[in-house]
Amino acid sequence: MPGANDERGAGARGDRDADYWTARRARLFRLALQASDFPAQTVKALAPALEGCTTILDVGAGVGALTVLLAKQGYQVTALEPKPVMLGELRDSLVRNRLDNVTCVRGVWDTRVVAPHDLILVANVAPIFDDLLPFLTEAEPLARRTLALVQNVGPGNEKFYYGELYPLLLGRPYPGRADYLRTLGLLHSVGIYASAQIVSYRFDQPFDSFPDAVQFWKDVMRLDTPDQERRLVAFLEGRLERVGDRWIAPMRRRSAVVWWRVASKDSL
Ligand SMILES: C[S@@+](CC[C@H](N)C(=O)[O-])C[C@H]1O[C@@H](n2cnc3c(N)ncnc32)[C@H](O)[C@@H]1O
Repeated sequence: MPGANDERGAGARGDRDADYWTARRARLFRLALQASDFPAQTVKALAPALEGCTTILDVGAGVGALTVLLAKQGYQVTALEPKPVMLGELRDSLVRNRLDNVTCVRGVWDTRVVAPHDLILVANVAPIFDDLLPFLTEAEPLARRTLALVQNVGPGNEKFYYGELYPLLLGRPYPGRADYLRTLGLLHSVGIYASAQIVSYRFDQPFDSFPDAVQFWKDVMRLDTPDQERRLVAFLEGRLERVGDRWIAPMRRRSAVVWWRVASKDSL
C-alpha cells in the first residue's frame, strides 16, 4: 500500500487556473461537495471503467471529491494536485475518513512525476481539457487499462447563475465554455470511440452568511460599482435559501463521464 501523503515538487505543465483557488474558495468548494451527490453519481457511472483496476491516478484531484470516495471503496489512489490549499483540504478529509490508501503528489500533470496506474482519471480540470490531445499522448502509455474524463455538460450557464448574472450585472451574455462534446469529437478524430454517460446532481453552494455570498460573487465576477452590488443583492435575495445558520445557493449541474480502454482503442 503506498504511504499516505507523499509530496513531490511541482511539474512543468502550466497551472492556468492558479489564481482562482484561494483558501476561501477551496473551503467553499469542499463545503459544496460535502452536500453534493456529485461524487456518488460519478463513481457509480465509472463502475464499468473501474473493472479490473486496483490503482487510480486522479489528475487534478482538488479537495478529493472522487479520490476520497474511490479510496473508501478500496482502490489505491494517487491524488495529483498542484494547489497547496486544495491538498490541505484533501489531507484533512483523508484524516477524517481514516484513509491510508491515498498518496498525495503536489504538482501539475507531468510524466516525470507520475508512474503507471490502471486507471487515469481527469475530472473537471479545464487546462487539461483545453489541450487534450497532447495530454492523451503522454497519459496513454501510463494508463494500464483505462482513461476516464469527467467534464461539464452544456455551456455552464447554471454555474453560479452566470447565465443570468452576466447580462444583469455586466451587460453581456455569459461566454460559456466548451463541454464534453468537444472532447468526444477530439477523441473520435484520433480513433478513440469512448463510452459516455451523463450524470445529474445537486451542487448547492453553502455560505456562512448573506454578506459572505455577496462578497463571493463580487470577487468571482469582479464587480466594483454600487449599482452592480445593488442588483446582485436583489438577485441573491430571490435565490439564496436560509438553512440552519447557513445560506445556500441551490444549483443543479450535469457532467459527462467519458471513458475507454487504452489497449485496443475500440469502443466497448
Ligand atoms: C475544478 S477542480 C476539480 C477537482 C476534482 N477533480 C473534482 O472534480 O472535484 C480542478 C483542479 O485541477 C487542478 N489543476 C489545474 N491544472 C492542473 C494541471 N495541469 N495538472 C493537474 N492539476 C491541475 C486545480 O488546481 C484544481 O484543484
